[in-house]
Amino acid sequence: MEVPKFLSIFMLIAYLWVISNNNGVEASHKIYPKFQSLAAVKVKQLHRTAFHFQPPKHWINDPNGPMYYKGIYHLFYQYNPKGAVWGNIVWAHSVSKDLINWEALEPALYPSKPFDINGCWSGSATVLPGNKPIILYTGIDYKERQVQNYAVPANPSDPYLRKWIKPNNNPVVFPGPDVNASAFRDPTTAWWSNDGHWRMLVGSRRKHRGIAYLYRSRDFMKWTKAKYPIHSLANTGMWECPDFYPVSISGKNGLDTSFAGGNEKFVLKVSLDLTRYDYYTTGTYNRDKDRYVPDKDSVDGWSGLRYDYGNFYASKTFFDSRKNRRILWGWANESDSTFDDMAKGWAGVQTIPREVWLDGSGKQLLQWPIEELETLRGKNVHISNQELKKGHHVEVKGVTAAQADVEVTFKLPSLDKAEKFDPSWKNLDAEHLCGKIGSKVQGGVGPFGLLTLASKNLEEFTPVFFRIFKDGHKHLVLMCSDASSSTLKTEGLYKPSFAGFVNVDLSDKKLSLRSLIDHSVVESFGAGGKTCITSRVYPTLAVFDDAHLYAFNNGTETVTVEKLNAWSMKKPAKMNS
Ligand SMILES: *[C@@H]1O[C@H](CO)[C@@H](O)[C@H](O)[C@H]1NC(C)=O
Ligand SMILES: *[C@@H]1O[C@H](CO)[C@@H](O)[C@H](O)[C@H]1NC(C)=O
Ligand SMILES: *[C@@H]1O[C@H](CO)[C@@H](O)[C@H](O)[C@H]1NC(C)=O
Repeated sequence: MEVPKFLSIFMLIAYLWVISNNNGVEASHKIYPKFQSLAAVKVKQLHRTAFHFQPPKHWINDPNGPMYYKGIYHLFYQYNPKGAVWGNIVWAHSVSKDLINWEALEPALYPSKPFDINGCWSGSATVLPGNKPIILYTGIDYKERQVQNYAVPANPSDPYLRKWIKPNNNPVVFPGPDVNASAFRDPTTAWWSNDGHWRMLVGSRRKHRGIAYLYRSRDFMKWTKAKYPIHSLANTGMWECPDFYPVSISGKNGLDTSFAGGNEKFVLKVSLDLTRYDYYTTGTYNRDKDRYVPDKDSVDGWSGLRYDYGNFYASKTFFDSRKNRRILWGWANESDSTFDDMAKGWAGVQTIPREVWLDGSGKQLLQWPIEELETLRGKNVHISNQELKKGHHVEVKGVTAAQADVEVTFKLPSLDKAEKFDPSWKNLDAEHLCGKIGSKVQGGVGPFGLLTLASKNLEEFTPVFFRIFKDGHKHLVLMCSDASSSTLKTEGLYKPSFAGFVNVDLSDKKLSLRSLIDHSVVESFGAGGKTCITSRVYPTLAVFDDAHLYAFNNGTETVTVEKLNAWSMKKPAKMNS
């Protein structure tokens, strides 16, 4: 094991002690008591991101309570002010006018009262009529119970909402006798119904059943649990960070969480603690029965749709009334070791905020980086009508390949030569299939795509690519973001071949891909945002100016880069400093 010099032998011993004696998991984070308050000695720039949301140092996880208020975007997030591992969690608070440049304020919430003395965990914001923001969050109380609390701004006329008050009538929701007080957290944004009640959800489990409990209140203070959860599913374990919102059935416009036009669809997202991915279904909300029913062909549980097939968890959306859109924030954790995180002095980023809306098919969501990101685009290079024969790659020269935004459209030949989907692969999920037949295994139509964070001689690269199969009369499109060759470093890294299928109509013989490359992040959007994959990778050679970007093809059929645009990305002028 490589030991950074400034870490003492004592710390190494402590580290080895912790990995051999890991005393359990709480709130699903591994606990390293010895390191929780070990401040970063320095902040390593290697692998640090330029345009993803990060504080200047230390550990971050879930995005909390995003909202737009009086011309200002607010993002709160779970943060350890004292170290680069999970612990000492507070609600850090940042504000922005454009979702790109951020200013850090004082933490909004930190443990201080009997109802949250052991933790201020995740939650959401709701803007009440009269433009009054209120936060609901999970407190770990003096008896170690998970309870739901509220907080209000001390001075609502301050658009920055710098100070928050946690009144003494908290908690507003106790886990009842039938609720597991160790598995009861992450209240959603509340929505108002014309029966005069607010409603909100809290994630939970009963034995192996994942549950989203529904609560109702007239005044936001006294909450009553509904007889039935809004939804639950056997054998899915703890449901963390539920999110529930309406989506318009046509067009990209977002809807306020309380919107009730009668014609909208709903999305229920849950973060499954057992797999650490965010799954969603689209469905119907029956307001009379207060139950959510996923559409017949919307698969519930962990073979269903995910927002992102990579490092992406505990996400949350909010309605942006400024631009009438719904925006999704998610946490991308590290794939290196706790020891590396301490050496880096930081761990975790938020993914680029994404606009989400319902696809025209009505069967899935589309996601796309917010348009504001384009303000960071600098130098542009362009390629068009470039043929890529089997085994060939072409370099995208002239942009900072370690810090770039690239959009490409591939034109495909006839799909007749697509390889047959082997029936034995039916038992594999997309990730295992990509692990088995990655970019190095030649196919018919594909693998083709981008080689991101590549070293000059391709000792290291993170390929993001498509592969097309014939399955009877249908075609299957697999999209991979494969970390297995991303670095020469061998120890202590998680290098998964993340992948998902893309439900896309290939009749125009085109497939598009966009990747946001940011030193240790490759965040990709396939087919206009139908399938998204975020990979965390840690190259040793392909860093800073030594990183390269290529388009490649390893299928027998020639594909054409119809058009490719790549931009060097600037750093936001302000990022929480
Ligand atoms: C309650 O939740 C905790 C934490 O998830 C779990 O360890 C425990 O088994 C649960 N108890 C029951 C009865 O399900
Ligand atoms: C974070 O990273 C590790 C690998 O380092 C992974 O196994 C884990 O499931 C990840 N996700 C979350 C949400 O913790
Ligand atoms: C393409 O396939 C060849 C042969 O298997 C392999 O050596 C090469 O690394 C592959 N290219 C990529 C980008 O994976």
